[in-house]
Amino acid sequence: MKSIRCDDIDLACVDTGPPAGGGPTLLLVHGFPLSHAMWASQVDALRGVCRVVAPDLRGHGASPQGEWPGGEAPSLARHADDLAALLDGLGVNGPTIYCGFSMGGYIAWPFLERHGERLTGLSLIDTRAAADDDVARATRLKMAEGVAAWGAARVAELMRPKLFGPEADSSVVDATTAVIAATAPRSIAASQRAMAARPDATPRLPHIDLPTLVVCGEHDAISTAAEMRGIAAAIPEARYAEIAGAGHMAPLERPAEVNAALRSFVAEIA
Ligand code: MLT
Repeated sequence: MKSIRCDDIDLACVDTGPPAGGGPTLLLVHGFPLSHAMWASQVDALRGVCRVVAPDLRGHGASPQGEWPGGEAPSLARHADDLAALLDGLGVNGPTIYCGFSMGGYIAWPFLERHGERLTGLSLIDTRAAADDDVARATRLKMAEGVAAWGAARVAELMRPKLFGPEADSSVVDATTAVIAATAPRSIAASQRAMAARPDATPRLPHIDLPTLVVCGEHDAISTAAEMRGIAAAIPEARYAEIAGAGHMAPLERPAEVNAALRSFVAEIA
């Protein structure tokens, strides 16, 4: 793992594969409340094809949360700015493909708005463009309020039924549960508040002028296949890959299929 200064904190990341200067860099942005570890299989599969950067977002994995000047929890735009600073710190200034899973996909929207000129490709995996409805927003805010008392292990219990498809391997379930349970309650609260506040990105979709790969697990209960097919249909240069048998955690549940889709996408736009 590298440690790169990004504004007020050092962001931890994996940085591997051929050095910059040749092909593109693939930036893998994890979901909530996870870490770069969710991408282990993708890092292994793609490091021979391109440079792969997989950070721990602020407050997740080995990256600290920071002090929040003014007391405001970090927004999704704050994470987007951290990622741009990370790319600068790593000297990545050539073609870059942003690949965001779930919350990492929600961060893609402010990244496109603020740093979109850096990108030559986009991959959206098990994620959403729509904002939360009132019920989902209230559920997030309830967790944000309660998590300090409940503990992160309770969050893992609450999330588990929605994360996996019917055939998920128990080792994948256990490893994901352990990462969630190890996340600081303060970071869980911050991410829930940031996700609750995110605007609807659907009107942006027809204006995305990047080759885009949309990937979704067949049984995803958080970002459904029907919704993700709609995202792919609305983005002019998008293609769609549905991962049979997988739930929300498709990159972990069906790594070979997700890696094959990413590999051919990267090769195509390199
Ligand atoms: C994630 O996997 O990042 C979260 O489940 C996203 C969400 O809570 O909407």
